[in-house]
Amino acid sequence: MFKDTVKKFFAPKEKERFIPSKKSTAGMSARDFKRLPQHVAIIMDGNGRWAKRHRLSVSRGHRQGTENLREIIRHTDDLGIHALSLYAFSTENWSRPQEEVDALMQLILDFFASEIDELDAKNVHILILGDKSRLPEKQRLTLIEAEERTAGNTGLHLNIAINYGGRDEIARAARELADQVAGGMLDPALINEQMIADHLYTRGQPDVDLLIRTSGEMRLSNFLLFQCAYAEFVFPKTLWPDFSVRDYDETLLDFGGRERRFGKRL
Ligand code: IPE
Ligand code: IPE
Ligand code: MG
Repeated sequence: MFKDTVKKFFAPKEKERFIPSKKSTAGMSARDFKRLPQHVAIIMDGNGRWAKRHRLSVSRGHRQGTENLREIIRHTDDLGIHALSLYAFSTENWSRPQEEVDALMQLILDFFASEIDELDAKNVHILILGDKSRLPEKQRLTLIEAEERTAGNTGLHLNIAINYGGRDEIARAARELADQVAGGMLDPALINEQMIADHLYTRGQPDVDLLIRTSGEMRLSNFLLFQCAYAEFVFPKTLWPDFSVRDYDETLLDFGGRERRFGKRL
């Protein structure tokens, strides 16, 4: 009892407690891999459990979850991977406590404020996956600005999914095509898979080759449903704030060893 009180008294305030992120610059280089994916998608999961484990607030967990992002993006770029899709906020995440939603919204602003210059300088093309119209004005404008500023860049395609839902994305594509049919511009008999792909947020990009979900959960949670049709899945147990470049390389090695058949007899 007494010990607990003492511990509580001397415990540093949350803001002052520095927990280094496990980032490592010792990433492998492209020639170390037999085969690399063209498009990697990451469901960055486990911030809440990380916070709980460290007895910190959920918001602090989310903040820690942005610490390793820079390294992961940089490494993806260094390896020459074509596209990286990050799941930052799902259409279902609105149902979390308001305080947590507010913290996540603030992190969006902070992330772009601190990273946009470097990303633009590195020729990264930013695309937001999801419906921006439901976001608060400030966030909406920040995201539009980032997209517009990097629209002409020809390097890594960095897709950030915010207010994103895979079913919502497919429904939107269906609506757009239905509009064309109603306007007499499209014959429904001509609608094919490619046409649907061309109406998704990721139009023009290759399908997801590798889907990584951290924290040990093994589900898609409505992420890139159409684009993941033939993706290889890797589910590292590591919680997202602890996911390092080294862990990332391990998933890429795992991918390189998979036999991809696409339905064929090899
Ligand atoms: C993922 O971490 C980040 C977002 C959903 C924004 P969680 O907050 O889902 O972490 P857990 O699943 O509670 O550990
Ligand atoms: C998916 O994670 C969304 C993001 C990582 C942004 P969740 O933690 O929201 O998914 P569920 O609720 O565990 O399926
Ligand atoms: Mg989660």
